[in-house]
Amino acid sequence: MNAPTPPYTALSLEVRDAVAVVTLQRPERMNALSKVLLEELGEVFRALASDRAVRAVVLAGAGEKAFCAGADLKERKGMTEDDVRGLLGLYRASFGAIDACPKPVIAAIQGVALGGGFELALACDLRVASPTAEVGLPETSLAIIPGAGGTQRLPRLVGVGRAKEMILLAQRFKGPDALAKGLVTALAGDGETALTAALALATRLAAGAPIALAAALEAVDGGADLPIEQGFLHEARCYEKTLVSADRREALAAFAEGRKPVYRGE
Ligand code: COA
Repeated sequence: MNAPTPPYTALSLEVRDAVAVVTLQRPERMNALSKVLLEELGEVFRALASDRAVRAVVLAGAGEKAFCAGADLKERKGMTEDDVRGLLGLYRASFGAIDACPKPVIAAIQGVALGGGFELALACDLRVASPTAEVGLPETSLAIIPGAGGTQRLPRLVGVGRAKEMILLAQRFKGPDALAKGLVTALAGDGETALTAALALATRLAAGAPIALAAALEAVDGGADLPIEQGFLHEARCYEKTLVSADRREALAAFAEGRKPVYRGE
């Protein structure tokens, strides 16, 4: 798909077999995040969150060269300080919508994911990269800091020391190094692109039990910052949602009957 899908003007949305593919459609600007693209990202993820036909989401960038080159620096140049402050709020809201999406979201990273582009990938649950992909947070080299959650999400992912090193030195890593450092969760294999690898993963996830996947995401995301005893209680509350589900009974029945379970998200 090479053009935005109405009502969107800067991204496209395609849903096939319970997998939604959201594609940033600004390849001429390396899929940089304009204000409109940010607004549309928030809109599309808020809509996907409650769409029962969708069980997993892949987020990709159009073209070969970039998943996303971060903030639209050309648009940014014409902005006042107050404009930028307002924009940071929009980043939080839109990336927050990805965070809050109760379905697994996989970033398919080909080409560069820099600055806000890598922060966008960090807001996803899983990150699949091509071996030639390059991720980095170059903000300090531009006399700013990551302002779309990077200073908060990165240390939670890879630890404080590694996050400081990467941010202070504006480091960039290619696919295999990014995998080794835990910045991405998987690499596309031979004969695969980041997109086909992410789609294969999304298809597996879409066959899973939606209530369990949502509860697992909520348990992990909501528990990460809690003292462990409170975390256990949070986990128990999330478990309860699966306990009362028809899908849990279906799993037990399918096991007893030696067949594959069919999950309805009920
Ligand atoms: N915002 C706006 N436009 C951008 C952009 C950005 N973040 N990144 C790239 N573009 C534009 C370029 O200006 C160029 O447009 P032009 O042909 O009209 O001048 C086009 O995308 C292609 O980029 P180009 O630099 O020619 O491609 P490249 O392959 O040589 O380099 C990058 C690609 C991404 C490495 C390089 O463009 C870059 O470093 N971009 C800035 C990334 C960044 O620092 N982001 C973090 C911001 S905090």
